[in-house]
Amino acid sequence: MQQLHITFIGGGNMAEALIAGLIRSGHAASHLVVTDIRQERLGQLNQKYGVFTHTDNSKAVSIADVIVLAVKPQQMQKVISDLGSDLQQGSTLISIAAGVEIDAIKSHLGRADVQIVRVMPNTPALVGAGISVLFSDSDALHHQRAEYVLAASGETAWVDHENLLHAVTAVSGSGPAYFFLLAEVIQAAGVKLGLSEELSEKLAAQTAAGAGKMLAESGRKAEELRHQVTSPGGTTQAALDVMYENGLPGAVRKGVLAASRRSKELG
Ligand SMILES: NC(=O)c1ccc[n+]([C@@H]2O[C@H](COP(=O)([O-])OP(=O)(O)OC[C@H]3O[C@@H](n4cnc5c(N)ncnc54)[C@H](OP(=O)(O)O)[C@@H]3O)[C@@H](O)[C@H]2O)c1
Repeated sequence: MQQLHITFIGGGNMAEALIAGLIRSGHAASHLVVTDIRQERLGQLNQKYGVFTHTDNSKAVSIADVIVLAVKPQQMQKVISDLGSDLQQGSTLISIAAGVEIDAIKSHLGRADVQIVRVMPNTPALVGAGISVLFSDSDALHHQRAEYVLAASGETAWVDHENLLHAVTAVSGSGPAYFFLLAEVIQAAGVKLGLSEELSEKLAAQTAAGAGKMLAESGRKAEELRHQVTSPGGTTQAALDVMYENGLPGAVRKGVLAASRRSKELG
């Protein structure tokens, strides 16, 4: 896999996260190409990672085993329409664009024979702690290649129906923002209680990181971990009682459902 030639179309935040992950995991920079319409951005990526850069998507695609489409969803149609004849037979096309379905990609490419993997990553990939959920109807080779690219920046999971990516978008794609909101509110409350902004931010960030690590690594369910820190009649119980009374669980549940609905509308 480390010999694969991988081309990123669009050198934004997510592309950078995936490139950084691949380089950390030992993929040679000389086998990575990134394109963008902004020369300045390409200069930054070249300096930081030593990757090859190009402003010509067609040329960059024609030499690639794996192509990662990393432009914004609204830029996808134009970008893909220009690539149809340049893709090598047997190459793997990975799309991380939210909401753009495999059939739509094939239709814009004007080719039905292209092997496509759709992925919903999330922003913690920027620090190597992402979770990417993948779907593809292509064969094992293309699954393995996509797994290789995405696993370099965090965990991976697969779904076997494309329409489940709406739910994934609502849970893990948009999910970091829910936790950031909670951290914002907790920080502000800490300041109101007399802590310095700096200390309150540090406490909220480290508490979120620690709770996340326990959730990911303890093998215990969230509910069980919550019960473990909630002594009857204690401080945590007092906080949770008020949060329940004020409808926090219901609000979060409705929010996640709204994100899924919006993902379907955008698709
Ligand atoms: N960020 C997230 O949380 C997240 C999560 C899951 C999935 N995604 C998906 O990841 C994709 C990339 O997101 P991002 O946040 O990395 O976006 P981004 O920072 O805007 O990166 C896209 C880059 O592609 C460039 N570009 C535009 N048209 C191009 C073209 N024709 N050829 C080559 N490059 C072109 C853009 O330049 P300009 O800025 O000049 O237009 C920009 O530098 C999106 O489709 C998004 O849905 C993002």
